Amino acid sequence: MKNKYPFPIMIMHWLTLCLVVLAYLTGGDPTVHLKSGELHVFAGVSVFLLFFIRIIMIFTYRKDIPLNKPMSKYQRTLFLMVKYTLYSLLFLIPVLGWVTLSGLTESYQFFGMSLPLISNSWDVEKIGEIHEFLGNSFMVLIGFHALAALIHHYVFKDNVLKSMLYFKK
Ligand code: HEM
Ligand code: HEM
Repeated sequence: MKNKYPFPIMIMHWLTLCLVVLAYLTGGDPTVHLKSGELHVFAGVSVFLLFFIRIIMIFTYRKDIPLNKPMSKYQRTLFLMVKYTLYSLLFLIPVLGWVTLSGLTESYQFFGMSLPLISNSWDVEKIGEIHEFLGNSFMVLIGFHALAALIHHYVFKDNVLKSMLYFKK
């Protein structure tokens, strides 16, 4: 039985983390904070694109994904809940950011490219607030997810963290 995630999935996992952290650190109205805004949109759009590549990869490598056995039924439910919430937010947060940006400006250039915007008459102020709230909640959830991985490693001393690390035997 495989005890490590396939290498491309590991890359995707850690690259997504870097981009989410970059998006979080550069958070703010991209039409006001021009330079950091460009980075924010770049990181957020990349997270969005990687989401789809990740789904394709998980499907492609489904037979090679390690079965990290949860300790109880309750733990398994919690793991799945966190996993699917993380997945949903990887999709939802960039979409809400994109809708907000579309309401704030008629056109948006980043790194010489024009971002396609959608004309909408929604309450972008409210959607912007939800985007911000979910962005902050995402970081808290990632914190719990990381803490769980560290508890597995240092307290339960099992294979969970190592399964996502290339170098650790
Ligand atoms: C995982 C990806 C993303 C995360 C974690 C994230 C997080 C955040 C956070 C925390 C803020 C509030 C910052 C503050 O005001 O202190 C923010 C603002 C904003 N973000 Fe994002 N964002 C992401 C992706 C995107 C994308 C893809 C776009 C646009 C295409 C975008 C557009 C915006 C806009 C327009 C605001 C200002 C909202 C307002 O002032 O009401 N974001 N983002
Ligand atoms: C943006 C941040 C993160 C996101 C969105 C995320 C998301 C995920 C997802 C969805 C999985 C399930 C495998 C998959 O479908 O790809 C997973 C697995 C895992 N993640 Fe994260 N993760 C993040 C950050 C972290 C951090 C900071 C750590 C540790 C310090 C970590 C450690 C792990 C481990 C050990 C697994 C394997 C768990 C298992 O199979 O039992 N992740 N992550």
